[in-house]
Amino acid sequence: MFQPRVTVPISETEMSAETAIRRYLKDGDLKQAVETALGAVASGGADDAVLALGGEAAYQAGADNVALELFSRLDTRTRLDATQLAMMGHAADRLGVSAAAFSAYRRALDLDDGDVVVHYNLGSLYLRRHDWSRAIQHLRRACDLAPDLVQARLNLGRALLESEDYDAGIAYYRDCMAGFPDEIGFHEGLAETFMRKGDRAAAESEFRRLAKRDPANGEAWAGLIAAVTMDDRFDEAERMVAEARSAGAGSPDLDELAASLKQETGDYGEAIRFYRKVLAAAPNHRRASVNIIEALLAAGQAEEALAFCDERLEKAPGDANMLAYKALVLIDLGRIEESRAFLPPDLVMGHRPVCPEGFASMADFNKAMADHILNHPSLEPSPPNHATVDGRHTGSLVCEPWGPMRHFTEMIAQGAKSYRRRHAASNHPFFTRWSDDYSLTVWAVVMNQGGHQMPHIHPSGYLSGVYYPLLPDEVRDPGDIQGFIEFFSAPGQFNLRHPEPIEIFPPQEGVMFLFPSAYFHRTIPFTGGGTRISVAFDLVPL
Ligand SMILES: [Fe+2]
Repeated sequence: MFQPRVTVPISETEMSAETAIRRYLKDGDLKQAVETALGAVASGGADDAVLALGGEAAYQAGADNVALELFSRLDTRTRLDATQLAMMGHAADRLGVSAAAFSAYRRALDLDDGDVVVHYNLGSLYLRRHDWSRAIQHLRRACDLAPDLVQARLNLGRALLESEDYDAGIAYYRDCMAGFPDEIGFHEGLAETFMRKGDRAAAESEFRRLAKRDPANGEAWAGLIAAVTMDDRFDEAERMVAEARSAGAGSPDLDELAASLKQETGDYGEAIRFYRKVLAAAPNHRRASVNIIEALLAAGQAEEALAFCDERLEKAPGDANMLAYKALVLIDLGRIEESRAFLPPDLVMGHRPVCPEGFASMADFNKAMADHILNHPSLEPSPPNHATVDGRHTGSLVCEPWGPMRHFTEMIAQGAKSYRRRHAASNHPFFTRWSDDYSLTVWAVVMNQGGHQMPHIHPSGYLSGVYYPLLPDEVRDPGDIQGFIEFFSAPGQFNLRHPEPIEIFPPQEGVMFLFPSAYFHRTIPFTGGGTRISVAFDLVPL
């Protein structure tokens, strides 16, 4: 009699984990493949092949933490190939473990420079970390490799805009608009670049065109209203808010502008109510979170402002905006000593870098720096909405042409190390954002007679600094505070009920000041001839 042959499934214990995983992968059973790999790891039986296959399966299954774990284990045992490093990078990137993502991506590109996704992701990571020059480098490569990858082009535009090379940005956006006329992001980028460059009229006309083309585009309306507001046409701006809303446009930016218009006209109650609405929908809206504090103070609600700061600091103790604004609120409340203790002046540190190799003296180096800045292609008059008044500023200095800036980035690294050492025992909340791994933004401000900077902070960094390669005689005179750097004065729109406990420091050629990015600072205007060059920088945590 015929006996059918029965196939008995082989249990995993009877075949190698590798074979089992391969079989699961062939069947498309990613979950079982991952579990088998994890089982092998737990029992100590995971060889290189199991880790590699398991990592790939976990990656494909979207189990990023498992993929990262398995690839990391494999990495300690053998050389990962470019594909594995790319997967490791993507997994780490999605998990927000950026240090691991950076490292894996860089290594992947060392092995294969032609991976468009790795270039795109790495460039976008750098963009998020404010490392504009590296962002531009990788995003440009991604665009070269895949010219139709619109998101890479949009991110490249953003990096160009942020690096403040506005003319390059305008040319770039126009080029993209010609190639992709329907992609609204390029039109928005162009309008925003005009705005940041200080060409308010061009920005207004671009945003107007966009709002007309798509009346439901809240961002376009927000840009248009911001441009009109900057021109002090408040009534027109108010009408536009109503028009935008009736056209169905809505965005946190639009709501925030509506709030700031209320604030502008002295209707603080409505402004506060609107800001709270924006923050309920977009808790991290930067302008809403600082403008509400200003509005609360203007409305005489300093205790509420303090509660607002404290609530946010509880969630993010190192938030530069909240540290800075809480100090102002304490001053408004008359709690001056508490404000000083909260942002202590001794966290401003003077540092004298050593002369870099290849230069006979610091004077020699400073001259090279001054020449580099004065001839820098991005040097242009500061736009009207900038903290610098009557001055010129450069875009990013940490990109081509490098000149003496490579030495300077090393000086900053040494300065930051020495800062951390000096304050090793400090438990100030600003140190919660400290990272020895950082990206660096560096730019220069060139001022002649009357030039100055209004009080400002650098909210994206944790540690900021300024270095002076060239000072005019007036500023060198220690008996005269012209051109000095002043800390702790509030921006002009604040009308604090008590005077700020200001601290002033004399700039000196060849000296760097390092301070928490949350510290308000300004330059005292100077008269007389001569040129004052300061090089400012932020360390942004990675
Ligand atoms: Fe500054």
